[in-house]
Amino acid sequence: MNKIAVGVKGVDDILMGGIPEGKSILLSGNCGAGKTVFASHFIMEGLKNKETAVYISLEQDKQNLISDLEEMGIMWDHYEKKNKLRIIGGNLAYVRMLKDKRKAHFEDVIQEIKAVVIELGAKRVAIDSINLFLQLFDDISEQRNCFAQLNYELQQLGCTILYTCEIPEISQKLSWYGFEEFVVDGVLLLRRNYEKELNMNKRFLEVIKMRGTDYKEGTFPFRITKEGMEVYKNDPSSEFFH
Ligand SMILES: Nc1ncnc2c1ncn2[C@@H]1O[C@H](COP(=O)(O)OP(=O)(O)OP(=O)(O)O)[C@@H](O)[C@H]1O
Ligand SMILES: [Mg+2]
Repeated sequence: MNKIAVGVKGVDDILMGGIPEGKSILLSGNCGAGKTVFASHFIMEGLKNKETAVYISLEQDKQNLISDLEEMGIMWDHYEKKNKLRIIGGNLAYVRMLKDKRKAHFEDVIQEIKAVVIELGAKRVAIDSINLFLQLFDDISEQRNCFAQLNYELQQLGCTILYTCEIPEISQKLSWYGFEEFVVDGVLLLRRNYEKELNMNKRFLEVIKMRGTDYKEGTFPFRITKEGMEVYKNDPSSEFFH
């Protein structure tokens, strides 16, 4: 099985070479855990390897996203201008308003996404976040059908897909709705815990499942700096974090 590099330092080693090509991954994490940064590295890695990519953001508008990433040295403007990257979406309320105005069904939304993916020949797709995306639809069965169909259709196009997913602050849940983790091939969990005594956030990554490949089990500490995200294999209690 061909594997593709994730683009986050340390993660490919944990995944024994990367994500199996064509698989779908759920990247779950609490608020501020590093989901957007991780997804941006994943897309950037593809762009650096001369692949094309689509990034769907429902968190914030495009300009804010681009300027936040520039702080980290990720220059997406350049790739969009060269038609190597397409950033679509925007603030959830705005996208929802557009969708309602056009009385669009989830199948229409999926077709629009597919059209962009086909036009670019995109190999990597990231959706940040899948739970905000699914909030475009009203009832749980529509949300579930939408996710299953979207995932199926993107995989049929040969894409490797990363869906970020918000989870509540103190919870054992792996996803927002409770069904997302069963639709995808792999689940990565990010966790940010505020350590009062140290007056700092500690962050950990764990692989929950990864169909089609072996991986290193454990809870791996990671850091986010202006250079980006880096995951370490050392013990979380090591002096590195103190
Ligand atoms: N340029 C940067 N320099 C240093 N740290 C940064 C930078 N950008 C982001 N971070 C750190 O990374 C953290 C996580 O960022 P990110 O936006 O990826 O989290 P998230 O899981 O997507 O959060 P949310 O649930 O709010 O969407 C930020 O809160 C900040 O501490
Ligand atoms: Mg985010």
